[in-house]
Amino acid sequence: MLTLPRIIGHRGAAAAAPENTLAGIREAHAQGAGWVEVDVKLTRDGVPVLMHDDRLERTTDGRGAVADVDFADIRRLDAGSWFGPAFAGEPVPTLDELFALCAELGLGLNLEIKPCPGREAETARVAAERAKALWNGRPLLVSSFEEASLVEVRRVAPDLPLGVLFEDVPAQWRTLAARLRADALNVDGGLETSAIRNYVDFGRPVLAWTVNEVGRARSLAALGVHGVFSDRPGEMLAGFGG
Ligand code: G3P
Ligand code: MG
Repeated sequence: MLTLPRIIGHRGAAAAAPENTLAGIREAHAQGAGWVEVDVKLTRDGVPVLMHDDRLERTTDGRGAVADVDFADIRRLDAGSWFGPAFAGEPVPTLDELFALCAELGLGLNLEIKPCPGREAETARVAAERAKALWNGRPLLVSSFEEASLVEVRRVAPDLPLGVLFEDVPAQWRTLAARLRADALNVDGGLETSAIRNYVDFGRPVLAWTVNEVGRARSLAALGVHGVFSDRPGEMLAGFGG
């Protein structure tokens, strides 16, 4: 049975280091986080890499859609300078590199499948197959907002712990969570109290994103939320406990 954490470093430790980079994973670990969350999507030639946006502009010095660029070209980009000069030259990591670093540092992982449009099943299949091959029984939760990705993870790796992401409260959320055998509900931490209560009452662990204020983390915990994703995992650990 998977034990989920109370604090998960969001995109690594996104307030202190560039998101979805190995530097960010190291920073989360340095701040004391036991788990990290990252976003994975595919390059044009099908390599799973860590990236939140569908386009390259915000978090790299490249241009265009991730789905239109091969890995060799994405690998040449600088994914650190936009955040600060100390991170100049930080590359876009592959999923395999992330797995290796998490194993080295002893970190648990929430792997969010964040497919480019139209690649929902393919992205989930590649990520789940890599996880089956490389993760070796370490603490892992795979999650997605995309139903097609979640269905594919269940098909490829029926035993992988699965989190269903909810931004709001869709009408059929209970049916979806039950059909997918959700191990966790990963919900927007800014939702109103009644919505959070509905999710908690479902009876599976609820994780809330993105919570950067200790007071909000405490309020959510009082409502029964199990844990939070935070850009500031160190502050959360200090104020809220691990
Ligand atoms: O997985 C939790 C959270 O990361 C979901 O939102 O947009 O930050 O990927 P986003
Ligand atoms: Mg995410």
